[in-house]
Parts: sequence; structure tokens; C-alpha cells
Amino acid sequence: MNPEDFRQYGHQLIDLIADYRQSVAERPVMAQVEPGYLKAALPSEAPQQGEPFEAILADVDKLLMPGLSHWQHPNFYGYFPSNGTLSSVLGDFLSTGLGVLGLSWQSSPALSELEETTLDWLRQLLGLSAQWSGVIQDTASTSTLVALICARERATDYALVRGGLQAQAKPLVVYVSAHAHSSVDKAALLAGFGRENIRLIPTDERFAMRPEALQAAIEQDLAAGNQPCAVVATTGTTATTALDPLAAIGAITQAHKLWLHVDSAMAGSAMILPECRWMWDGIELADSVVVNAHKWLGVAFDCSIYYVRDPQHLIRVMSTNPSYLQSAVDGEVKNLRDWGIPLGRRFRALKLWFMLRSEGLEALQQRLRRDLDNARWLAEQIEAAPQWQLLAPVQLQTLCIRHCPPGLEGEALDAHTRAWADRLNGSGDAYVTPATLEGRWMVRVSVGALPTERAHVEQLWARLQTIVNG
Ligand SMILES: Cc1ncc(COP(=O)(O)O)c(C=O)c1O
Repeated sequence: MNPEDFRQYGHQLIDLIADYRQSVAERPVMAQVEPGYLKAALPSEAPQQGEPFEAILADVDKLLMPGLSHWQHPNFYGYFPSNGTLSSVLGDFLSTGLGVLGLSWQSSPALSELEETTLDWLRQLLGLSAQWSGVIQDTASTSTLVALICARERATDYALVRGGLQAQAKPLVVYVSAHAHSSVDKAALLAGFGRENIRLIPTDERFAMRPEALQAAIEQDLAAGNQPCAVVATTGTTATTALDPLAAIGAITQAHKLWLHVDSAMAGSAMILPECRWMWDGIELADSVVVNAHKWLGVAFDCSIYYVRDPQHLIRVMSTNPSYLQSAVDGEVKNLRDWGIPLGRRFRALKLWFMLRSEGLEALQQRLRRDLDNARWLAEQIEAAPQWQLLAPVQLQTLCIRHCPPGLEGEALDAHTRAWADRLNGSGDAYVTPATLEGRWMVRVSVGALPTERAHVEQLWARLQTIVNG
């Protein structure tokens, strides 16, 4: 494809995306296809000769669209929102079109400096002090892995330059809430801590980590000759958006000189609202924090922001310095390859910059407040309705609900819950996520897709009341 063809088909593609966003509400939210549907429709080998672009676009419509579950749909209440504001979509498009890589400052100076500047803007919007420096990672899973590797290296005085974890005399221990996201568990395993050295700390009636249980677990490990290393606290857990008490946890990590990483993948976005900052009380005691700008905030996936208090430590752990990557200005600039795992990195800051400039803080705040209001409204309806239960405090925009007909409990209630959630998702009218909480099934309703207005949430409530009856 030459640039003139690109101009022609690029316009068509933008039209396709714009039409898609304008009409997405007419589609079933969840894909209505069977496993293998696409593989059966596609040729088993790549074409020998190039095909007209029209044919490729036609297949997008005919073959791919039916196989999509629509995250930008107004009736999408699944998982957590992954909003892609159209301004950030354009930033992503430009990043790919420019095709530049940020291995080092010199390999694309604007890439490095825009990332530094936009992340400093965002730091201020989130209410973090000037002590923090940020870098864009692909996902929170990677950010948390980087955090735990850094924790491991601080606790071992850089064992990576000696025998690594394998030469440590005492096992290093990581503490996480029993409600932490599975990516935290995975990061601890990949960072080499080992399943036996991950402590799941019990939670209170609001599903938040109990600091006294954390303290007790640390003391027990010290008495057993283990080496406590890091605590991962969560602001906005995945199941219930529980808020681990950072100030109390931070006091413990400081007293024991442990790394504190805060997973704010979801709730971090809410920190652009001053009225939500209490949720982060104690954040300044942390060593690292992750905020997924690609969730509720609205930067097109992927844009996970990782802030650290000690960038020199991060660089010491992550840096590589082969001769072909060195430049005369290395002492004066930020070389992003030293701030994470990959060497090559895309110009992701463009999509954050486009969104922040094009939307402005006030519009972002207004949208998040709208979602908080809508979630509160739905919570009120559920609390007031007989046979419905709200299972966790609604502190953000996610509700954990259950419909409890008289006489149904235990496994029969589980079966009822899963059945109505499947019926709702299968109908294509709305998309929710069934999940377990304390061993029993419930349904998560996560309000906050870009186009979701109060009228949609009212429709959802009406639909919920009919779908439970079969
Ligand atoms: C609290 C929390 N942490 C981490 C993650 C993982 O995010 P990612 O997909 O960016 O790795 C999620 C995903 O929803 C989450 O809810």
C-alpha cells in the first residue's frame, strides 16, 4: 500500500470507526457466536497474492463484527470499563502511523519528553506529590511485575548482580489482600517469590485488607526466619472495589522497611476528583503505584501508568547499556528502556496527550461524576427492592448484586444467579460479569462505559427485574 492508497482507505477506516461508535448501541453487547466460528470462515493459509483493500474491509464487517463483544456499548457493564475516547484513538493511530520507537531519548526525543510531560500533568491531576516520576507500561500486570522485581532487588541489595534469588539465605515474602487481582499473584510468581511465600491477608466486612492481620503475618514470618519484602495494597479491588487502608498499611511497611506497591488500576482514575482522594489517604507512603489510564479514565488500551518514588532504583534494576544504544546525552535525559522490561516502546503518550488536551479535565471529571451518580442511583433501587441484595458497599461505580427469591439458598441460589446472568448476557441487551464473593455467586455491574447515561441504567434496572423471572 502506498501513501495515496493509505489516504483513501484511511478515510474509509475512520468512517468505519465513526459509524461503529454512532451505531454500536444497535448491536447485541455480547458476541452471539460459537467457538470456532471465525476459524471456520477464514482460509487456512495466507493469500499468495495481495487482495483489494475493499475485500478486507468487507470481511471486517461480515466476519469480525459479529464476533465482537462491544466494550464501547452503552449497555456494557462487564469487568471494568475500558474506555477508548475517540481523541485518544486518534493519538493511537498517529503513534502507529509515525512508526517511531523510544529505545532511548535519542531514538525519538519527542516520544520520551512527551511521556515525561504528560505523566507529570497526570500526576498533578491525580493529586500525587512532586516526589513521583512516571512511565507508561502496557498493562497493570506488567507494572506490578516491575514493582515486585524492584522490591525484591531492594530487599536483597541487588542480588541480581550476584547469585539472584537462588542465593538468598532466607525466603522473601510478599503480602497481598485476599481480594487482590490475579495479576498480583502472577507477578509475585514470575518475580520468583514462589507460591509458598505469598501471604493472603484476611479482609474486613468491607473486603479491605486488615492492617492488624498484616502486622501479625509479618511478625510470624520474622519469627520463622523469613524475610518480609513487599506489600501490595489495592485501591478498588476487582470483585467489589474495596479500598485497602493505605495509611495504616503504609505505617507498617515503613516500620518494617518493606516495599509498598499500590494497585489502583481501576480506582486511580477517580483521583482526578478531589472528593474521591480520601480513598488514597496514605498513598505518599507507597514506593510505587499503578493507575490504568486505559480503564475508566478513557485512554484507548493500552496505557498503564506506573509511578515510582525512587527512579534511580528502578533504573538500576532495569537498565541495560549495550554500546549500540549509548549516546552523548545519556547523562542528561530519560532513556525509557531503563524504566521497564521491553526495549522497544511505542509512542503511547500521544493518546494520553490527545485525550487530555482535547477533553480537558472538567469534561473528564463530569463523566466520572455522572457514572458515580448512576451507580448510586442503581444501588438505591436495589436496596429498596425486596428480593434484591447489595453485597458490598458501593464506593465507586461497581455494584455486587444478587437476586434472592424466597426459599432459594446455597447451590440453588448460585444456579439461579448464574442462569439469569447468562440469560441477560445471551440476550445481548446488557453485559454483566458473574463472579464469586466469599464462595458464592453474585453479579458485578460495573457502570462507566463512555456512552452510558442515566436512561441506560434505568433500562438495565427494568431488564434485571424481568430477566430474573426466566
Ligand atoms: C485491580 C486490578 N488490578 C489489575 C488489573 C489487571 O489489569 P491489566 O489488564 O492492565 O493487566 C485489573 C484488571 O481489571 C484490576 O481490576
